[in-house]
Amino acid sequence: MILPIYLYGSPVLRKTGKNIGPDYPNLKELIDNMYETMYHANGIGLAAPQVGLDIRLLVIDLAPYKDEDPEMGAFKKVMINPELLETGSKTDSYEEGCLSIPGINESVSRPSKIKIRYFDEAFNEYVEEFEGFRARVILHEYDHIEGVLFTDKISPLRRQLIKSKLDQIARGKFSCSYKVKSPSGVKR
Ligand code: NI
Repeated sequence: MILPIYLYGSPVLRKTGKNIGPDYPNLKELIDNMYETMYHANGIGLAAPQVGLDIRLLVIDLAPYKDEDPEMGAFKKVMINPELLETGSKTDSYEEGCLSIPGINESVSRPSKIKIRYFDEAFNEYVEEFEGFRARVILHEYDHIEGVLFTDKISPLRRQLIKSKLDQIARGKFSCSYKVKSPSGVKR
């Protein structure tokens, strides 16, 4: 089932997500729905707050990159209760977008290497290191479960330049091709 994606200005996007257990109601169905919602919106990552739930759950699928990099294209992960253990000191910048902030893309500086602990959908525990674009996507989604958006991380000047666009999204004035829920109550 395709779920509405909560847009910039929705209070749930500013909450710190809670850990969940294997007994979380309809967890498998929720994960399936998050993937379906993400694919429908042509996204590569989606975090639970973006579908209105303040829990520590995110899904990623880099399949759109399979032609240019087969290994990256095979990167598909559910991360439950992730905890960032280390970030490298080296950073790089790359343009990001977000399904909760349609029509805005900005360059964001992030650590190029991370170490993270997480559980998969069967609650097997992993501690893994990721680099480059994979680390970036994980960090973007991880930020969502910490109540942080990529627009928080851009320069004050850039933020000033996009402020009116962000305000318009929060007021329901925007266009996008997927189902959303805006804080002004507009549903499409
Ligand atoms: Ni996002």
